[in-house]
Amino acid sequence: MTFSKRYHDRGGCGGNRPVAVASLESCHPQPPSFAAEPAPIIMTDSTSALLLSTSDLDALLASATYAAREAGTLVHNAQGSDLGVEYKEQGKNNLVTVMDRESENLIQAMLRERHPDIQFLAEEGGGNTDLSRPTWVVDPIDGTVNYAHGIPLYSVSIAAVAEGRPVVGAVFNPNTNEMFTAAAGRGAFLNGRQLRVSDNNDLDHAMLVTGFPYNVGENPFHCIDAFVEFVTMGIPVRRLGSAALDLAYLAAGRFDAYWEVSLGPWDVAAGALLVTEAGGFVGTYSPVPNPSLIVTDRLLASNGRIHEAMRERLLKIAEGADRR
Ligand code: IPD
Ligand code: CA
Ligand code: CA
Repeated sequence: MTFSKRYHDRGGCGGNRPVAVASLESCHPQPPSFAAEPAPIIMTDSTSALLLSTSDLDALLASATYAAREAGTLVHNAQGSDLGVEYKEQGKNNLVTVMDRESENLIQAMLRERHPDIQFLAEEGGGNTDLSRPTWVVDPIDGTVNYAHGIPLYSVSIAAVAEGRPVVGAVFNPNTNEMFTAAAGRGAFLNGRQLRVSDNNDLDHAMLVTGFPYNVGENPFHCIDAFVEFVTMGIPVRRLGSAALDLAYLAAGRFDAYWEVSLGPWDVAAGALLVTEAGGFVGTYSPVPNPSLIVTDRLLASNGRIHEAMRERLLKIAEGADRR
Protein backbone atom coordinates (compact mmCIF):
# COMPACT_ATOMS: atom_id res chain seq x y z
CA MET A 1 0.00 0.00 0.00
CA THR A 2 1.23 3.49 -0.78
CA PHE A 3 -0.25 5.52 2.01
CA SER A 4 1.16 8.88 2.94
CA LYS A 5 3.55 8.71 5.88
CA ARG A 6 3.15 12.35 6.86
CA TYR A 7 1.59 11.43 10.18
CA HIS A 8 4.63 9.44 11.15
CA ASP A 9 6.93 12.23 10.03
CA ARG A 10 5.26 14.48 12.57
CA GLY A 11 6.16 12.29 15.49
CA GLY A 12 4.36 8.98 15.22
CA CYS A 13 0.90 7.69 16.02
CA GLY A 14 0.44 8.37 19.73
CA GLY A 15 2.77 6.73 22.22
CA ASN A 16 5.11 8.90 24.24
CA ARG A 17 6.01 11.16 21.32
CA PRO A 18 4.49 14.64 21.06
CA VAL A 19 0.80 14.69 20.27
CA ALA A 20 0.47 14.88 16.50
CA VAL A 21 -2.71 15.98 14.86
CA ALA A 22 -4.42 13.57 12.51
CA SER A 23 -4.25 14.24 8.82
CA LEU A 24 -6.84 13.17 6.31
CA GLU A 25 -4.24 10.86 4.79
CA SER A 26 -2.93 9.11 7.86
CA CYS A 27 -3.23 5.81 9.66
CA HIS A 28 -2.61 4.16 12.97
CA PRO A 29 -0.88 0.82 12.48
CA GLN A 30 -0.84 0.36 16.26
CA PRO A 31 -3.36 1.45 18.86
CA PRO A 32 -2.02 4.53 20.64
CA SER A 33 -0.51 4.11 24.07
CA PHE A 34 -2.05 6.04 26.94
CA ALA A 35 0.67 5.30 29.45
CA ALA A 36 2.97 8.23 28.87
CA GLU A 37 2.13 11.90 29.14
CA PRO A 38 2.54 13.42 25.66
CA ALA A 39 4.86 16.40 25.53
CA PRO A 40 3.16 19.62 24.46
CA ILE A 41 3.69 20.92 20.96
CA ILE A 42 3.21 24.45 19.78
CA MET A 43 1.90 25.02 16.29
CA THR A 44 4.45 26.64 14.01
CA ASP A 45 2.20 29.52 12.99
CA SER A 46 2.59 31.90 15.91
CA THR A 47 -0.70 33.64 15.16
CA SER A 48 -2.48 30.35 15.63
CA ALA A 49 -0.34 28.94 18.40
CA LEU A 50 -2.28 26.31 20.28
CA LEU A 51 -0.59 24.43 23.04
CA LEU A 52 -1.77 20.87 22.71
CA SER A 53 -0.84 19.48 26.06
CA THR A 54 -2.83 16.62 27.49
CA SER A 55 -4.89 19.04 29.55
CA ASP A 56 -5.65 21.19 26.49
CA LEU A 57 -6.91 18.17 24.60
CA ASP A 58 -8.92 17.12 27.64
CA ALA A 59 -10.51 20.57 27.87
CA LEU A 60 -11.29 20.72 24.14
CA LEU A 61 -12.74 17.24 24.16
CA ALA A 62 -14.83 17.93 27.25
CA SER A 63 -16.24 21.07 25.64
CA ALA A 64 -16.96 19.38 22.31
CA THR A 65 -18.67 16.46 24.07
CA TYR A 66 -20.69 18.72 26.34
CA ALA A 67 -21.86 20.98 23.51
CA ALA A 68 -22.70 18.03 21.23
CA ARG A 69 -24.80 16.41 23.94
CA GLU A 70 -26.62 19.63 24.86
CA ALA A 71 -27.34 20.54 21.23
CA GLY A 72 -28.33 16.98 20.35
CA THR A 73 -30.77 16.89 23.25
CA LEU A 74 -32.23 20.26 22.25
CA VAL A 75 -32.77 19.08 18.69
CA HIS A 76 -34.15 15.71 19.77
CA ASN A 77 -36.64 17.30 22.17
CA ALA A 78 -37.97 19.54 19.39
CA GLN A 79 -39.03 16.56 17.30
CA GLY A 80 -42.81 16.57 16.94
CA SER A 81 -43.05 20.36 17.03
CA ASP A 82 -43.08 22.67 14.00
CA LEU A 83 -39.50 22.48 12.74
CA GLY A 84 -39.91 25.36 10.29
CA VAL A 85 -38.52 23.38 7.38
CA GLU A 86 -37.18 25.47 4.49
CA TYR A 87 -35.46 24.65 1.21
CA LYS A 88 -32.00 26.09 0.76
CA GLU A 89 -31.27 27.76 -2.57
CA GLN A 90 -28.28 25.55 -3.26
CA GLY A 91 -29.11 22.08 -4.58
CA LYS A 92 -32.39 20.19 -4.63
CA ASN A 93 -34.18 19.11 -1.44
CA ASN A 94 -31.40 20.66 0.64
CA LEU A 95 -33.36 21.33 3.83
CA VAL A 96 -32.74 23.51 6.82
CA THR A 97 -34.90 23.74 9.95
CA VAL A 98 -35.23 26.24 12.75
CA MET A 99 -33.45 23.68 14.93
CA ASP A 100 -30.33 23.66 12.74
CA ARG A 101 -29.91 27.34 13.58
CA GLU A 102 -30.85 26.94 17.26
CA SER A 103 -28.43 24.07 17.66
CA GLU A 104 -25.67 26.07 16.00
CA ASN A 105 -26.33 29.14 18.17
CA LEU A 106 -26.26 27.06 21.33
CA ILE A 107 -23.01 25.35 20.37
CA GLN A 108 -21.38 28.64 19.41
CA ALA A 109 -22.38 30.30 22.69
CA MET A 110 -21.10 27.36 24.76
CA LEU A 111 -17.79 27.08 22.93
CA ARG A 112 -17.21 30.87 22.85
CA GLU A 113 -17.70 31.08 26.59
CA ARG A 114 -15.23 28.29 27.31
CA HIS A 115 -12.68 29.02 24.56
CA PRO A 116 -12.93 32.69 23.51
CA ASP A 117 -9.66 32.49 21.50
CA ILE A 118 -10.75 29.68 19.21
CA GLN A 119 -12.38 30.57 15.90
CA PHE A 120 -15.73 29.17 14.81
CA LEU A 121 -16.94 27.72 11.50
CA ALA A 122 -20.37 26.15 11.13
CA GLU A 123 -22.55 25.05 8.27
CA GLU A 124 -25.40 27.52 8.64
CA GLY A 125 -23.67 30.70 9.79
CA GLY A 126 -20.24 30.20 8.22
CA GLY A 127 -17.30 31.79 10.02
CA ASN A 128 -13.56 31.40 9.86
CA THR A 129 -12.46 29.40 6.81
CA ASP A 130 -8.75 29.71 7.48
CA LEU A 131 -8.44 26.34 9.16
CA SER A 132 -4.74 26.77 9.75
CA ARG A 133 -5.96 28.75 12.78
CA PRO A 134 -7.47 26.88 15.74
CA THR A 135 -11.14 26.60 14.83
CA TRP A 136 -14.24 24.78 15.97
CA VAL A 137 -15.83 23.12 12.94
CA VAL A 138 -19.49 22.37 13.56
CA ASP A 139 -22.39 20.69 11.85
CA PRO A 140 -25.36 21.53 14.09
CA ILE A 141 -27.49 18.75 12.56
CA ASP A 142 -25.83 16.34 10.18
CA GLY A 143 -28.68 14.51 8.51
CA THR A 144 -31.22 17.32 8.34
CA VAL A 145 -33.30 15.57 5.67
CA ASN A 146 -33.69 12.58 8.01
CA TYR A 147 -34.40 14.90 10.94
CA ALA A 148 -37.08 16.84 9.05
CA HIS A 149 -38.81 13.54 8.22
CA GLY A 150 -38.64 12.13 11.74
CA ILE A 151 -36.04 9.50 10.86
CA PRO A 152 -33.73 8.94 13.85
CA LEU A 153 -30.49 8.99 11.86
CA TYR A 154 -28.86 12.36 12.43
CA SER A 155 -26.11 13.72 14.61
CA VAL A 156 -24.39 16.78 15.97
CA SER A 157 -20.77 16.94 14.86
CA ILE A 158 -18.14 19.13 16.54
CA ALA A 159 -14.40 19.13 15.87
CA ALA A 160 -11.55 21.32 17.04
CA VAL A 161 -9.19 21.82 14.12
CA ALA A 162 -5.65 23.20 14.23
CA GLU A 163 -3.34 23.65 11.25
CA GLY A 164 -6.10 22.28 9.06
CA ARG A 165 -6.35 19.01 10.94
CA PRO A 166 -8.81 17.77 13.53
CA VAL A 167 -7.41 17.40 17.02
CA VAL A 168 -10.64 16.64 18.85
CA GLY A 169 -13.98 15.32 17.61
CA ALA A 170 -17.40 14.50 19.03
CA VAL A 171 -20.33 13.05 17.08
CA PHE A 172 -23.55 12.55 19.02
CA ASN A 173 -26.72 10.76 17.94
CA PRO A 174 -29.36 11.69 20.53
CA ASN A 175 -31.74 8.98 19.30
CA THR A 176 -29.41 6.17 20.28
CA ASN A 177 -27.56 8.11 22.99
CA GLU A 178 -24.32 7.22 21.20
CA MET A 179 -21.47 9.66 21.82
CA PHE A 180 -18.45 9.05 19.60
CA THR A 181 -15.32 10.89 20.70
CA ALA A 182 -11.67 11.12 19.68
CA ALA A 183 -8.60 13.15 20.48
CA ALA A 184 -5.42 13.20 18.41
CA GLY A 185 -3.08 10.37 19.33
CA ARG A 186 -5.37 9.12 22.08
CA GLY A 187 -7.86 6.82 20.40
CA ALA A 188 -11.54 6.87 19.51
CA PHE A 189 -14.35 5.91 21.85
CA LEU A 190 -18.07 5.16 21.86
CA ASN A 191 -19.65 6.05 25.20
CA GLY A 192 -16.23 5.51 26.76
CA ARG A 193 -15.48 2.15 25.08
CA GLN A 194 -12.44 2.19 22.82
CA LEU A 195 -13.11 1.67 19.12
CA ARG A 196 -11.22 -0.27 16.47
CA VAL A 197 -12.06 -0.39 12.78
CA SER A 198 -13.02 -3.77 11.31
CA ASP A 199 -10.38 -6.27 10.22
CA ASN A 200 -12.11 -7.36 7.00
CA ASN A 201 -9.63 -7.37 4.13
CA ASP A 202 -11.93 -8.62 1.37
CA LEU A 203 -13.78 -5.97 -0.64
CA ASP A 204 -16.13 -8.61 -1.99
CA HIS A 205 -17.43 -9.25 1.53
CA ALA A 206 -17.35 -5.68 2.71
CA MET A 207 -20.13 -3.56 4.17
CA LEU A 208 -19.99 -0.15 2.49
CA VAL A 209 -21.70 3.18 3.02
CA THR A 210 -21.96 6.26 0.86
CA GLY A 211 -23.95 9.44 0.49
CA PHE A 212 -24.98 11.79 -2.27
CA PRO A 213 -24.65 15.57 -2.53
CA TYR A 214 -27.70 17.75 -3.10
CA ASN A 215 -26.77 18.12 -6.80
CA VAL A 216 -26.64 14.34 -7.25
CA GLY A 217 -28.73 14.69 -10.43
CA GLU A 218 -25.64 16.15 -12.10
CA ASN A 219 -23.68 13.01 -11.17
CA PRO A 220 -20.68 14.99 -9.83
CA PHE A 221 -17.45 12.99 -9.92
CA HIS A 222 -19.52 10.06 -11.28
CA CYS A 223 -20.95 9.37 -7.84
CA ILE A 224 -23.99 7.56 -9.27
CA ASP A 225 -21.74 5.32 -11.40
CA ALA A 226 -19.73 4.36 -8.32
CA PHE A 227 -22.86 3.45 -6.39
CA VAL A 228 -24.19 1.36 -9.28
CA GLU A 229 -20.87 -0.44 -9.65
CA PHE A 230 -20.65 -1.62 -6.04
CA VAL A 231 -24.33 -2.52 -5.85
CA THR A 232 -24.02 -4.47 -9.10
CA MET A 233 -21.07 -6.36 -7.61
CA GLY A 234 -23.49 -7.61 -4.95
CA ILE A 235 -21.76 -5.68 -2.18
CA PRO A 236 -24.11 -4.19 0.44
CA VAL A 237 -24.03 -0.40 0.23
CA ARG A 238 -25.95 1.65 2.78
CA ARG A 239 -26.93 5.32 2.56
CA LEU A 240 -27.63 6.60 6.07
CA GLY A 241 -27.93 10.32 5.31
CA SER A 242 -25.44 11.59 7.90
CA ALA A 243 -21.79 11.72 6.84
CA ALA A 244 -20.65 12.15 10.45
CA LEU A 245 -22.47 8.95 11.45
CA ASP A 246 -21.11 7.14 8.37
CA LEU A 247 -17.59 7.91 9.59
CA ALA A 248 -18.41 7.15 13.23
CA TYR A 249 -19.87 3.76 12.27
CA LEU A 250 -16.77 3.04 10.22
CA ALA A 251 -14.64 3.83 13.27
CA ALA A 252 -16.82 1.43 15.26
CA GLY A 253 -16.26 -1.41 12.77
CA ARG A 254 -19.87 -1.41 11.57
CA PHE A 255 -18.79 -0.39 8.07
CA ASP A 256 -15.59 -1.32 6.25
CA ALA A 257 -15.42 1.70 3.97
CA TYR A 258 -17.21 4.96 3.17
CA TRP A 259 -16.93 7.23 0.18
CA GLU A 260 -18.70 10.41 -0.85
CA VAL A 261 -18.13 13.47 -3.03
CA SER A 262 -18.47 17.22 -2.41
CA LEU A 263 -18.51 17.25 1.38
CA GLY A 264 -17.95 20.27 3.61
CA PRO A 265 -15.45 20.42 6.48
CA TRP A 266 -18.32 20.29 9.01
CA ASP A 267 -19.45 16.96 7.52
CA VAL A 268 -16.01 15.41 7.84
CA ALA A 269 -13.80 16.97 10.52
CA ALA A 270 -14.91 15.08 13.63
CA GLY A 271 -15.66 11.80 11.85
CA ALA A 272 -12.29 11.72 10.08
CA LEU A 273 -10.51 11.90 13.42
CA LEU A 274 -12.71 9.10 14.78
CA VAL A 275 -11.65 6.88 11.88
CA THR A 276 -7.93 7.56 12.06
CA GLU A 277 -7.92 7.22 15.84
CA ALA A 278 -9.72 3.87 15.52
CA GLY A 279 -6.89 2.64 13.27
CA GLY A 280 -8.52 3.40 9.92
CA PHE A 281 -7.48 5.48 6.97
CA VAL A 282 -8.96 8.65 5.55
CA GLY A 283 -7.94 10.02 2.18
CA THR A 284 -9.27 10.91 -1.22
CA TYR A 285 -9.63 9.02 -4.45
CA SER A 286 -8.64 11.96 -6.60
CA PRO A 287 -5.85 11.17 -9.06
CA VAL A 288 -3.93 13.89 -7.20
CA PRO A 289 -3.60 13.19 -3.45
CA ASN A 290 -5.34 15.87 -1.43
CA PRO A 291 -4.89 15.84 2.32
CA SER A 292 -6.98 18.99 2.79
CA LEU A 293 -9.86 19.07 5.19
CA ILE A 294 -11.51 21.91 3.33
CA VAL A 295 -11.53 20.50 -0.18
CA THR A 296 -12.91 17.01 0.15
CA ASP A 297 -14.25 16.45 -3.36
CA ARG A 298 -13.81 12.70 -3.31
CA LEU A 299 -13.47 11.34 0.17
CA LEU A 300 -12.59 7.71 0.80
CA ALA A 301 -12.32 6.39 4.35
CA SER A 302 -11.82 2.78 5.25
CA ASN A 303 -10.52 0.25 7.71
CA GLY A 304 -7.20 0.51 5.82
CA ARG A 305 -7.28 -3.11 4.67
CA ILE A 306 -9.62 -2.61 1.71
CA HIS A 307 -8.54 0.97 1.03
CA GLU A 308 -6.38 0.34 -2.02
CA ALA A 309 -8.96 -2.00 -3.59
CA MET A 310 -11.67 0.62 -3.10
CA ARG A 311 -9.49 3.46 -4.35
CA GLU A 312 -8.47 1.59 -7.50
CA ARG A 313 -12.07 0.69 -8.24
CA LEU A 314 -13.31 4.26 -7.68
CA LEU A 315 -10.58 5.72 -9.90
CA LYS A 316 -11.39 3.22 -12.66
CA ILE A 317 -15.09 4.08 -12.47
CA ALA A 318 -14.26 7.77 -12.91
CA GLU A 319 -12.02 6.97 -15.93
CA GLY A 320 -14.64 4.68 -17.49
CA ALA A 321 -17.37 7.23 -16.98
CA ASP A 322 -15.17 9.87 -18.61
CA ARG A 323 -14.94 7.73 -21.76
CA ARG A 324 -18.68 7.25 -22.06
C1 IPD B 1 -25.56 15.92 4.54
C2 IPD B 1 -25.42 14.54 5.13
C3 IPD B 1 -25.57 13.49 4.06
C4 IPD B 1 -24.61 13.70 2.94
C5 IPD B 1 -24.72 15.10 2.37
C6 IPD B 1 -24.53 16.12 3.49
P1 IPD B 1 -26.63 17.82 6.08
O1 IPD B 1 -25.40 16.90 5.54
O2 IPD B 1 -24.19 14.38 5.75
O3 IPD B 1 -25.33 12.22 4.55
O4 IPD B 1 -24.86 12.75 1.94
O5 IPD B 1 -23.73 15.26 1.40
O6 IPD B 1 -24.62 17.41 2.97
O7 IPD B 1 -27.08 18.66 4.96
O8 IPD B 1 -27.68 16.91 6.58
O9 IPD B 1 -25.95 18.60 7.16
CA1 CA C 1 -23.75 17.80 7.02
CA1 CA D 1 -26.13 20.20 8.62
